[in-house]
Amino acid sequence: MKKTLLVLVAILFLFSLMTSADYVGSKKCKMCHKGDKKGNVFEKWMERAHSKAFETLKKEGKEKDPACLECHTTAFNKGGYKIGDPNNVKFEGVGCESCHGPGSDYKKMSIMKDKAKSIAAGLIVPDEKLCVACHDPKKSDTAKPFNKEEYFKKIDHVYRK
Ligand code: HEC
Ligand code: HEC
Ligand code: HEC
Ligand code: HEC
Repeated sequence: MKKTLLVLVAILFLFSLMTSADYVGSKKCKMCHKGDKKGNVFEKWMERAHSKAFETLKKEGKEKDPACLECHTTAFNKGGYKIGDPNNVKFEGVGCESCHGPGSDYKKMSIMKDKAKSIAAGLIVPDEKLCVACHDPKKSDTAKPFNKEEYFKKIDHVYRK
């Protein structure tokens, strides 16, 4: 009985490894989400604070402090930024996937064109709850209180009517 249970758990674990999406980095989103016709989504992100969040840590000499990396990188220790990983450059700062979820399964054109399919493949349409996971003054005194209206306006990159 115990054995069958263990085998079942092992199978479920392997299955979850097979189906969970991977973080690919913001550059992979750039090719389809840049330029005037596409609302300059990538360019807007580059100009604003989130893309520069790792630079901020460097300026403070804190780029190796796990207590800071959690909110100043993408998916820290959750499939994105990981101390000592050669892939880290892709995950410096608060990337697209910090808010939209890991992109490996939805980034294909055939999936992306279809919102329902994209969501089924892991795309997140973010709401306030997602923001306050990092914008939480209780977790860090660098995180100021979150003003929903003001803060959503500041990061706005919606271009379709
Ligand atoms: C091969 C091209 C391609 C790539 C790569 C791509 N996208 Fe898209 N994405 C699209 C298209 C096409 C749409 C549909 C809207 C449009 O035409 O602008 C879309 C829509 C979206 C939407 C809006 C969903 C909705 O309808 O509300 C989000 C969010 C999004 N993409 C995020 C990302 C992120 C994050 C990445 C990188 C991980 C990414 N995309 C990579 C082509 C792409
Ligand atoms: C992974 C953590 C994380 C998430 C999720 C996140 N943020 Fe941020 N945000 C940050 C960090 C870190 C900074 C500071 C970046 C810097 O200046 O170094 C920041 C800065 C900002 C700023 C700039 C503040 C200013 O006055 O210039 C705005 C606006 C903002 N975030 C809005 C949002 C919104 C809206 C959401 C949700 C849709 C969100 N953030 C989700 C971590 C996050
Ligand atoms: C719980 C998430 C979280 C943690 C942990 C965190 N930060 Fe932040 N940090 C933020 C957010 C969110 C902002 C943006 C605040 C705003 O403008 O509303 C921010 C802003 C900053 C800023 C100001 C950026 C600017 O130019 O205005 C600095 C500096 C900073 N953080 C450094 C650090 C350091 C150093 C650590 C580690 C000791 C750290 N943070 C840990 C979330 C976090
Ligand atoms: C701080 C969180 C955050 C980050 C970082 C972020 N987005 Fe978004 N994104 C949002 C929110 C919030 C919306 C609006 C969702 C809605 O329609 O309610 C959105 C909407 C979109 C849309 C739909 C635009 C439309 O006109 O409907 C696309 C495409 C998109 N994001 C792509 C990206 C790409 C590509 C990146 C990285 C270059 C990125 N996002 C980074 C939070 C974020």
